[in-house]
Amino acid sequence: MANTALITGILGQDGPYLAKYLVEKGYKVYGLMRRYSTPHMDNLKFLGIEHSVDFIEGDLSDEASLINIIKNIRPNEVYNLAAQSFVGSSWDQAKLTTEVNSLGVLYLLNSIKFFSPTTKFYQASTSEMFGLSNDDGYQDENTNFHPRSPYGISKVYAYWMTVNFRESYGLFTTNGILFNHESPLRGIQFVTRKITDGVVKIKLGLAETLSLGNLEAKRDWGFAGDYVEAMYLMMQAEKPDDYVIGSGHCHSVREFVELAFKQVGISDWEKYVTIDARFKRPAEVPHLQARANKAFEKLGWKPKVSFEELVKVMVEADMKRLQK
Ligand code: NAP
Ligand code: GDD
Repeated sequence: MANTALITGILGQDGPYLAKYLVEKGYKVYGLMRRYSTPHMDNLKFLGIEHSVDFIEGDLSDEASLINIIKNIRPNEVYNLAAQSFVGSSWDQAKLTTEVNSLGVLYLLNSIKFFSPTTKFYQASTSEMFGLSNDDGYQDENTNFHPRSPYGISKVYAYWMTVNFRESYGLFTTNGILFNHESPLRGIQFVTRKITDGVVKIKLGLAETLSLGNLEAKRDWGFAGDYVEAMYLMMQAEKPDDYVIGSGHCHSVREFVELAFKQVGISDWEKYVTIDARFKRPAEVPHLQARANKAFEKLGWKPKVSFEELVKVMVEADMKRLQK
């Protein structure tokens, strides 16, 4: 019988990449989605897999819906990718962020514990949990957490609950502590996609300026398609554990902007970029850079797409879309 996987967050960025990866490995994939008046399948369609997923309606903030789903499907693997994932909104919607990102994980873990204890569980943890904390400029599995946003805090709760269910009940639960990863499917609010979309619009004469916040923030950016492979590998390991996943290289928002403009042949980019305080955060995370040696050594995982290739792929995809 084929392996079965339930992916929450199936309509976001990572969900479709992971679904494609698992379908190609022969999995039967179920995708949890919220009820919509008009479902948005664009990201699944972009990868051509909208017909390869069985959709199930449910919501991370509704415990009974999760219990029913786990009880009925009893999947081999659950990948919990669903979240209120935009850091910027988490100050204004801290309660919602906590209900979905923290309590939602507790509900899923309880559903597994009571109704399908052999199901393996992957939690989408994040480098935002490190926040201000680093060791010699890098973050790894031993770095303390010092989250700087309600989003980061909500994910710290989920991280420890995932560890606790492993230690208390012997469940196979694992945290992937992923650093920023991007793609043409990235939501338009996130800075990389906002930049590539904005740069292409300026190039095509559809916009005059691009408004951004803190250009000095540094992130360890990778390609989402590479990072879903790490999720899968963590779930195949002999023992459940927690892993940092990132490239080890870091760049500023300024560098991303400069490279994206260069990609469309604009070198005097400063004249198109304005700084708007609305896009600055009450508390910033200035520098994220992964030391992912544990994943390199124990999982045999390595990122394949470089920073330069990532910017190129994203600019090209926005160019194609906007030229239509
Ligand atoms: P994303 O594009 O924002 O997708 C999140 C998904 O969660 C969306 O499909 C969303 O549904 C769904 N969702 C939100 N609230 C929900 C609820 N109450 N019930 C059910 N589904 C809900 O995020 P992503 O970039 O793919 O990231 C996937 C996960 O990894 C997230 O948990 C994120 O926090 C975490 N993470 C991401 C990164 C990164 O750089 N991308 C790094 C570290 C960790 P709708 O489509 O209905 O809005
Ligand atoms: N969104 C946004 N918009 N960010 C901006 C802007 C802007 O106009 N201008 C500067 N930035 C800076 C932010 O202040 C932040 O330092 C950096 O760009 C990256 O912001 P985002 O792309 O919104 O991502 P993030 O790092 O806050 O969070 C993403 O990565 C986390 C992993 O570290 C999200 O995907 C999270 O869900 C994920 O956990």
